[in-house]
Amino acid sequence: MNDTELASLENDLVVRIAAAGDETILESERVAALGKKGKISDLLKGLGRMTPAERQVMGPALNGLKERIGDAIVNRRTVLKQADLARRLEAERVDVTLPLRRSPLESGRIHPVTQVIDEITAIFADLGFAVAEGPDIENDYYNFTALNFPEGHPAREMHDTFFFNPGPDGERKLLRTHTSPVQIRTMETQSPPIRVIIPGRTYRMDSDQTHTPMFHQVEGLVLDETSHIGHLKWILEEFCRAFFEVEKVEMRFRPSFFPFTEPSMEVDIRCARVGNEIRFGEGDDWLEILGCGMVHPNVIRHGGLDPEKVQGFAWGIGIDRIAMLKYGMPDLRAFFDADIRWLDHYGFRPLDLPTLFGGLTS
Ligand code: DAH
Repeated sequence: MNDTELASLENDLVVRIAAAGDETILESERVAALGKKGKISDLLKGLGRMTPAERQVMGPALNGLKERIGDAIVNRRTVLKQADLARRLEAERVDVTLPLRRSPLESGRIHPVTQVIDEITAIFADLGFAVAEGPDIENDYYNFTALNFPEGHPAREMHDTFFFNPGPDGERKLLRTHTSPVQIRTMETQSPPIRVIIPGRTYRMDSDQTHTPMFHQVEGLVLDETSHIGHLKWILEEFCRAFFEVEKVEMRFRPSFFPFTEPSMEVDIRCARVGNEIRFGEGDDWLEILGCGMVHPNVIRHGGLDPEKVQGFAWGIGIDRIAMLKYGMPDLRAFFDADIRWLDHYGFRPLDLPTLFGGLTS
């Protein structure tokens, strides 16, 4: 190979290296020139067949070529690497001036009903109560019959029950109209002494500012050998003081009627209405908040227990209603609209769990 051919080969290689658009192409150019079977390596192998005089000229010429092409490849690789880095920096740029996105823990809210159930549970847990639950879909027996509602009794109609279509066996299931059926289910599975609260969803065909077709109740049930109406009054008073977070509440027990209690009472608490606001423990007004009474012997019998040996009391509170009272929420329907703005305003922070020692509402 003469000088001109060598110069043209070098020129050709330099052009190809400069044209290599990425490191893969560049690597294949390197192999084609300097690899074991590359053009320059081939020429170097030919040195052995040359005369010493030829070799003295071609040796330095070829080694010089090898070195320059090697340098050209290294330089090109550096350029490609820098270009690649610049491209990535551009593409993966972080704009540190953007506002922070709120984490789910910060923006998520606990629904007031969940909060109030947690508060009620904390209060009664402190008094030694456990939580019991039952199904939303009930049958006539648990919702009415076992609770001492006589067949055809108008109280059944009073509940505005949602009935399902009859099943294959002719039985019409229903959406429970109160949490009281879980009294029976609890007696069937636990033995006295029983001290439970039963929070849950309940359903009635009703809808206005203070009624929704689905609402929440918390039932209480105490059964043993000696519990009496004095205990009932004390527990309800303690509950109201803790729940409404006031030193004193004055309660009024009015005679009433429920088929499953005898005697039955409705309970009002003394309050003052100032504009839209309600204050407890003062004023000349009364506000009804719950029903209660001594568990009827028939109910105890239906629960599989002996009313000669076992006695006790029960109560039922509308959760949504006392939530509205405590937190000043005027319209019950908004509870279930799933409006994120309402939840943002009235909801609770997820890490502020209510406890009696840490404060119900921190
Ligand atoms: N179940 C009743 C209702 O929904 C509330 C109630 C009243 C429950 C008296 C009780 C009770 O346990 O003793 O209207």
